[in-house]
Amino acid sequence: MTDHASVLLEPFLRLAAEVRPRTFWDGTLGLGGHAIALARLLPELRVWGSDADIEMLNRAGAAIASAGLSERFSLAQGNFASDPHGSHAPFDIILLDLGISSLHIDELDRGITFRGDQELDMRLDVSQGEPVWRWLNKAKTEEIMSVLFRYGEESFAPHIARAIVARRETFGELRRNFELREICEEVYRRRVPAAKRHTFRYPAVKTFQALRIFINQELASLEKALEFLPERLNVGGRLFIISFHSLEDRLVKHAFAERTRIIETDPLARRNYREGDYTLVVKKSIVPDKNEIAKNSRARSARMRVLQRLR
Ligand SMILES: C[S@@+](CC[C@H](N)C(=O)[O-])C[C@H]1O[C@@H](n2cnc3c(N)ncnc32)[C@H](O)[C@@H]1O
Repeated sequence: MTDHASVLLEPFLRLAAEVRPRTFWDGTLGLGGHAIALARLLPELRVWGSDADIEMLNRAGAAIASAGLSERFSLAQGNFASDPHGSHAPFDIILLDLGISSLHIDELDRGITFRGDQELDMRLDVSQGEPVWRWLNKAKTEEIMSVLFRYGEESFAPHIARAIVARRETFGELRRNFELREICEEVYRRRVPAAKRHTFRYPAVKTFQALRIFINQELASLEKALEFLPERLNVGGRLFIISFHSLEDRLVKHAFAERTRIIETDPLARRNYREGDYTLVVKKSIVPDKNEIAKNSRARSARMRVLQRLR
């Protein structure tokens, strides 16, 4: 098994255990790291786990079985936005640990990573939609540019988009991750003076991130889920969301803030807002400490926000 460390595990376990939960829905089960740890800590806990990726679910199932916890877990494949365990709600704890697992980078051959030679698929659920290479071979320059800008905040989006289309026209279909990586490297080589290159992240990072977010509709799923997840909590229950980039965190922050205060419609009211049915468990987000980042560099950009249902 891949060397796997669950991000922000200690604060998650502490703040989840505080409410003495009996039911838990993990909507991004991954390899089951958070879920298995909480189940071990709380022997009465019943867990519903789901993941968009069937491969992850199978691996998590094996890990749960070898921890001797299968009887307390129910697993289902599904996007969290489609509420796969909705019929078992409400829950005391809900967790979304967004993005991809280390397995997607280190083992699964989906072209999510720019390392090695893989087909550019990038889907988490390979039974839905189309691989990203197919879209890349038919999209217009402006469409590619807009995806790279919106989901990658890539400053060379126009240049990379034009280079993708030019390459397609010269060499035919673009299908492998290393072909895309080469295009990004070439654009950076031309646009960034050698003396400044060390100030940039690796040239393909933002492009790969943007395409993955786009093809999996990651932000749309999160937005949709944020509309109903708070209502899937029991009174006193907590919703934890761990995000890995500012686009996600902004959505979570605003959606949580909206639940904590309600716009006052009474024209005679002395305040513009009154208290909502939810509260923030920590006013700001929780980020990993230096030790965690030293052990797991993927934790670097993680932020966890926690919402609690009051009534
Ligand atoms: C960071 S990993 C979760 C790791 C897990 N918490 C652990 O400790 O092992 C994120 C997981 O969420 C899944 N995922 C991402 N977006 C999803 C979505 N919209 N619906 C369901 N699962 C999703 C990915 O397939 C991946 O397995």
